[in-house]
Amino acid sequence: MSTPTRRLLTGIQSSGKPHLGNLLGAIGPAIALSQREQTPAYYFIADLHTLTSSKDAARNRAATYDVAAAWLACGLDVSKDCFYRQSDLPEVTELAWVLNCFAPYPMLANAHSFKDKAANLADVNGGLFTYPVLMAADIVLYDGTHVPVGRDQQQHLEMTRDIASALNRAVGADVLVIPEAVIDPTVMTVPGTDGRKMSKSYGNVIDVFAPEKELKKAVMGIVTDSTPVEAPKDPDTNVIYQLFALVATADEAAELAAKLRAGGFGYGDAKKWLLEVLLRRFAEARARHAELRPNEAELDRLLAIGADKARQVGSQTLARVRRALGYRA
Ligand code: ADP
Ligand code: TRP
Repeated sequence: MSTPTRRLLTGIQSSGKPHLGNLLGAIGPAIALSQREQTPAYYFIADLHTLTSSKDAARNRAATYDVAAAWLACGLDVSKDCFYRQSDLPEVTELAWVLNCFAPYPMLANAHSFKDKAANLADVNGGLFTYPVLMAADIVLYDGTHVPVGRDQQQHLEMTRDIASALNRAVGADVLVIPEAVIDPTVMTVPGTDGRKMSKSYGNVIDVFAPEKELKKAVMGIVTDSTPVEAPKDPDTNVIYQLFALVATADEAAELAAKLRAGGFGYGDAKKWLLEVLLRRFAEARARHAELRPNEAELDRLLAIGADKARQVGSQTLARVRRALGYRA
């Protein structure tokens, strides 16, 4: 087997419209990382994993396009990297079946993704229980060596390593590449409009791809205290400032901090400035998104390019596995 020395690979959930937190905390850093790689990075939309929780076909379909358009608008380059939809390669579900047979029950029962829901077992479907196995298949099918993920996914990576090693041991050959997690401890947490972590589930998001009027409404809706305009304000406890510092230049951030501390500068003024900086920072991405998102045929075309490239690697891995286990390949 020709093993890549380094292949960056990660899955992105298709859980809805990516927000500013996703852009600054995940999409931006992942694209920057792939730009530093010599070899293509493998990024895919984990739309089969979505089915463990959401059965709404129209919603799931739209979420996949929302996620695809956001990544492409932020600069993912399909001529270099391999960007595809998990469900476009059914090879992954065949491999998941095989890997299921190497995943001991206690290991699966110990997964956070299952344990978080285990209080109400009637709500746990087989897909949710074996979620980590499909994730393992996602990675080893394409010989992923380095998997950038959040800390919450570290356990899934350990399971991937255990499952893949068990198969290799059973067949007495290094049929599968054993991947490692890449966890960036410096990754930022973006606050939402109510001061909590920005999250779809809290309804406190800023959608930078929304029409300007809607974006303005979200920014103007940032929760503030009742300090009067003339009073000095502490930037460090201020959500507007925290968001501003993440998207403005360092000079602008210092200027806003000084204005807030001096007093006479209201939250309304600060919000207007934040909106201006957001529109500037994401101008190019917004333009590209506005062009791409409505054009689902073009998104399909771009994802199909990735699927074709991914299949070349995936079909070889699957053939190795089939042969090693005594099936026709
Ligand atoms: P949500 O909480 O909105 O459902 P996801 O769990 O789908 O977001 O997160 C997708 C990716 O975006 C993950 O890598 C996650 O770490 C990152 N992310 C989500 N929210 C934030 C945030 N507020 N700040 C920084 N990164 C975030
Ligand atoms: N489970 C991951 C998450 O919730 C998404 C995912 C699916 C993934 N398959 C993967 C991540 C393979 C890395 C590699 O974020």
